[in-house]
Amino acid sequence: MKQERIIVLDFGGQYNQLIARRVRECGVYCEVRPYTMSLKELQALAPKGIIFTGGPNSVYEEASPHYKKEIFECGIPILGICYGSQLMAYMLGGRVETAPVSEYGHTEVHVDTDDALFAGVSADTVCWMSHTDYIAEAPEGFRITATTPVCPAAAMACPEKNLYATQFHPEVMHTAEGQTMLRNFVYKICGCVGDWKMDSFVETTIQGLREKIGSGRVLCALSGGVDSSVAAVLLSKAVGKQLTCVFVDHGLLRKDEGDEVEAVFGPEGPYELNFVRVNAQQRYYERLKGVTEPEAKRKIIGEEFIRIFEEEARKIGAVDFLVQGTIYPDVIESGQGKSAVIKSHHNVGGLPDVVDFKEIIEPLRMLFKDEVRRAGVELGIPRELVYRQPFPGPGLGIRIIGEVTEEKVRMVQEADAIYREEVAKAGIAPELGQYFAALTNMRSVGVMGDFRTYDYAVVLRAVNTSDFMTAEAAELPWQVLTKVSNRIVNEVKGVNRVLYDCTGKPPSTIEFE
Ligand code: XMP
Repeated sequence: MKQERIIVLDFGGQYNQLIARRVRECGVYCEVRPYTMSLKELQALAPKGIIFTGGPNSVYEEASPHYKKEIFECGIPILGICYGSQLMAYMLGGRVETAPVSEYGHTEVHVDTDDALFAGVSADTVCWMSHTDYIAEAPEGFRITATTPVCPAAAMACPEKNLYATQFHPEVMHTAEGQTMLRNFVYKICGCVGDWKMDSFVETTIQGLREKIGSGRVLCALSGGVDSSVAAVLLSKAVGKQLTCVFVDHGLLRKDEGDEVEAVFGPEGPYELNFVRVNAQQRYYERLKGVTEPEAKRKIIGEEFIRIFEEEARKIGAVDFLVQGTIYPDVIESGQGKSAVIKSHHNVGGLPDVVDFKEIIEPLRMLFKDEVRRAGVELGIPRELVYRQPFPGPGLGIRIIGEVTEEKVRMVQEADAIYREEVAKAGIAPELGQYFAALTNMRSVGVMGDFRTYDYAVVLRAVNTSDFMTAEAAELPWQVLTKVSNRIVNEVKGVNRVLYDCTGKPPSTIEFE
C-alpha cells in the first residue's frame, strides 16, 4: 500500500515546516513543496490533502504567488491558512482587501462546531492571528464557519468540494485547539488512516536514498554530533560501503570523545561503512601555538578542518554525493532555499567548494532537532550520542581562553568530565540546556598541602535555554557545585580554583569565546 501523504504548498510563510510537523504529529506523513511545483508534479505525488501556507504578500498584488485554478477542481481536499485562505477566496471569486483593523496575536474566535474542521472544538476558542488583509466576502458556494468581532470570515468552507480555509494559524501552539483542527482536516476531511511513524520516515528515506544514489559513491564529514551521526547512519543503512565517513579528531573534543565516536562508527561498531579517523591533534596544537585572539582561533580550526578533509577526499577520489546533516533550523538560519549553505559558524562551513562532487544530500533537512533525535533512536544509535548536548565545531578551542596547548586541553577535558559526571549523578542533567567547564586564562595563588600553588582557575557554566539564542544561568544546587569544585582541585593537576558563571545571554554568550 502506498503511504498516505499530505503536501504543504509553500507560499513563503514563516510556519511552513511547523505545519508539516504538526501533521506528522497526527501520524500522517507530510512534506513541504514550493508553490512553483506544477499541478502535474503535485498530482503525481498522490496527496490525500494539500495545505496552502501563509505568506507575506497580498493576493491582489501583481507579483504575488498564485497557483493554477484547476487545483480546486482536482478533487483533493485543500486547507488554506492565512495567505493561503485569502488566495483560495480570491481565486474562486471572493473579495480580499486590507482589513480596517489588523489582528495580531491571541484572538477570540467564534467557530461553527458543526463544520468538519471544527468538530470537537469549543465554540469560542483562542486562535493566533497575524494579518493585515482579510476575506471581505467569501466566494459563491462557501459558508462562513468562524468570525471575530473584526474579521467577518475568520474561516470558510465549501464541504461539497472539500475546500477549507482559516485566517488564523492552527499550527502554532498559541491556537489552543489548533491540533484538533489539523487532525480533523487530515482524518475527517482527507480520510487519512494515520499510517506514519518516525520509523516510516527512516524506512522511506532509506528507500529514497537507495534510488537516488544507485551505485554512486558518497562522502560524509562526521563530527560525532547528533545531526551528522544520524545522517551517516541513514546513509550507511541505505548504501553501506559506498559511504565513506571522515572523522577529524582535532584534539579539541571532550574527554574520550574521539574513541567513543570510533567505537560507534569504526570497524568494531555495528554499521557498515568506510570510516576514516584522522588523528590531527598535534597538527592543530602546532597551528594554534601562540594564537590568543578568539576569531583567529576559530578561523584556524575551521580552515585546518577543510584542508584535512580535502586531503582525505583526494585520497578517496571522485565522489558523487556529499552528505550534510543540515536540519530545519539550519535551513531557516541560512535563508530559505539556499540549500548548500551551512551555518556560518559551523566548523564544516565552506566544504562544498573544496570537494568535487555532483550533488549534496541533506536527508534531515525537513526535521526539527527532537525529530532528528527520534530518528536516531529508531536507527538504534546509542542514546548517549543521540541525546548529547550541543558542542561547538571549534570544540574546546573556544573553551580555553587565550592560547590553546595540549596541557590546557587535558585540564579542561578532565574538569569537564568530572562536572558532567557529578551533574549526571545528581540527576539534574535533563533540566539543563547546556553545561560545561572552561579554562580561564587566569592563574592565582592557592595553598595545597602546606605548599603555595600558582595555578589555573576553571570556570563552570550551566544555562537554561530552549533556543540557545537567549539563556539564563542555571541555579545549580550548592552541594553539586562544592562536590565538583573539590573533585576538580583534587584530581586535575594544574587547577587550584573553581568559579561559577552567573551571567545570562545577553549580555554574555553561552560559550566563552
Ligand atoms: P553562543 O556562545 O553564541 O552559543 O551563545 C550558542 C550555541 O551555539 C553553540 N556554538 C557553536 N556551534 N560552531 C557550532 O557548531 C560554533 O562555532 C559555535 N559557537 C557556539 C554553543 O555551544 C551554543 O549551544
